[in-house]
Amino acid sequence: MCGIVGYVGRDNAKDIIIEGLKKLEYRGYDSAGVAIVEKGGILVRKKEGKIANLEEFIKNEKITGTIGIGHTRWATHGAPSDLNAHPHMSNSGNIAVVHNGIVENYVELKEWLAKDYGVQFHTETDTEVIAQLIGVLYKGDLEAAVYEAVEKMKGAYAIGVVAEDQPDKLVAFRKDAPLIAGLGNSGNFIASDIPALLKYLDKIYLIENGEMVVCTADRIQIFDENKNPVDRDLLHVTWSLEDAEKDGFDHFMLKEIYEQPRAINETLMRRIGDDGKIKLDGISLTLEDLENINKIYIVACGTAYHAGLVGKYAIEKMAKIPVEIDVASEFRYRDPYIDDKTLFIAISQSGETLDTLAALREAKRKGARILSVVNVVGSSVVRESDDVFYTWAGPEIAVASTKAYTTQLICMYLLALYMGELRGVITKEYYNQILDELKAIPGKIEKILEKSKDVEKLAKTLYNRTQVFFIGRGMDAAVAYEGSLKLKEISYINSFAIAAGELKHGTIALMEPETIVIALATQDFLFEKMFSNIVEVKARMAHVVSVAKEGNTTIERESNEVIYIPQCADEVSPLLTAIPLQLFAYYVAREKGENIDKPRNLAKSVTVE
Ligand code: F6R
Repeated sequence: MCGIVGYVGRDNAKDIIIEGLKKLEYRGYDSAGVAIVEKGGILVRKKEGKIANLEEFIKNEKITGTIGIGHTRWATHGAPSDLNAHPHMSNSGNIAVVHNGIVENYVELKEWLAKDYGVQFHTETDTEVIAQLIGVLYKGDLEAAVYEAVEKMKGAYAIGVVAEDQPDKLVAFRKDAPLIAGLGNSGNFIASDIPALLKYLDKIYLIENGEMVVCTADRIQIFDENKNPVDRDLLHVTWSLEDAEKDGFDHFMLKEIYEQPRAINETLMRRIGDDGKIKLDGISLTLEDLENINKIYIVACGTAYHAGLVGKYAIEKMAKIPVEIDVASEFRYRDPYIDDKTLFIAISQSGETLDTLAALREAKRKGARILSVVNVVGSSVVRESDDVFYTWAGPEIAVASTKAYTTQLICMYLLALYMGELRGVITKEYYNQILDELKAIPGKIEKILEKSKDVEKLAKTLYNRTQVFFIGRGMDAAVAYEGSLKLKEISYINSFAIAAGELKHGTIALMEPETIVIALATQDFLFEKMFSNIVEVKARMAHVVSVAKEGNTTIERESNEVIYIPQCADEVSPLLTAIPLQLFAYYVAREKGENIDKPRNLAKSVTVE
């Protein structure tokens, strides 16, 4: 998704901004550009494609300005091109703007500017409309012009603005799209995401909706929508630059797969107190709260939704509260029955997914209590929730989510157990048993990772197949959806997940000798049923790769290959099963030579509908 970086200070702005934009490359983009305020005017340089293209384009130019804005664009209005790339300028040449999000009424504004001010437009973007609008409204007071402009703009956006005749000031505004500001040694920054600034600082301001930031080389001021100064505490960022770098791995995805034992340990340890029990510090979920809840809704998108599927099983089994689950894009438009007895759980790595945010607002409007499971501190979902359960996975850079997923699962298990114990619906023994199982997970994942070569070998033999099915029952079905998504999103193989019992109702018609079936069979109490499903697909000549617990030799009789995971309770097996599936997707995509960290058509955080 689009990324913004702005700098004003004493160093070369172009170098700093480009460096920051590179740290946002993981979000996916199709063009990049910078606007630097130079002595003779604003110099705008932009190029379709990689940031490297932009660097090549300007490498022989002497660009020395110390204030500027930069952008990586993910096309929404207008095709990816040099022309449509940001920054955009006003016709006066005095104003340059970068923008994330969408201006919904841009057509209306465009017509008005053309009719009343004779403005001619040069691009197809909604962003040019912002630049032209501020250009027309600007009468020497940049903050006033930006305030006036945003009053007229509908939609969700974060913008960064510079003016040629105000070469010491950078102005930014946030409405429903992420924006931060940071204090550095040589100057000050704005950005859409923390990784852009990690090299330069470790303290940031989180900008809220309706707020304006005014940065000079020595000062950052924040103003609310009524133009009153806001006193905001600085947030100390604990992510390190190494966290956002590859650390010797070929891809961020592989690095993040290998980070899972550490990440899960972190998530667990932060929530287990000295007495060995789960502590939900900062989350208000008392027995009285739980007695007031008669239903839980889990809402999320993509991988986070798949974590929610496991969460539903866990909560219903351990806390005995009915759980409904939905994808956010459906939930938000279907007028679901929600009231003040509903606990709404939003799951989101980025905390910026627009559909999830909109679903959360809908639930809130209807009186639900909002608990979110989020990775990015200070993100929009966090700010709009009553309570937040952080995943503490560290920055996830690869577009395909891995460690965010498994840490989301940990959060769901901890919540389920906590609620179950509080409500007195599970025994002490069961509570301790599952907690011990969770604590053993990082070590068991290490064991799976030690055998990653086996999965790599398998991927080398199967990477050129064109059709893959993931099947499972119970919690295995939930993981099947995630395994399938992982494979398709980075290898572009047509993969499909289905509850194994559903196969015979239609899908089994697709089984052919070249078809791969990845059969998850880790639920002991469902094994016989699952085994029958494996026999059925094997009889149709499909190539079966099973995932089972160590010691299960029966499954070998009907499988071409078996991937074993360490012994564990059925309830927690998704945490282990997910790992070989992530590795399989990774190695297949690598074998096919695909762009693993930035798959085509995808972006890390989806802040548009
Ligand atoms: C897939 C993936 C996506 C995200 C989805 C929600 O690997 O990462 O499916 O899970 O776009 O994103 P968040 O969790 O940021 O709300």
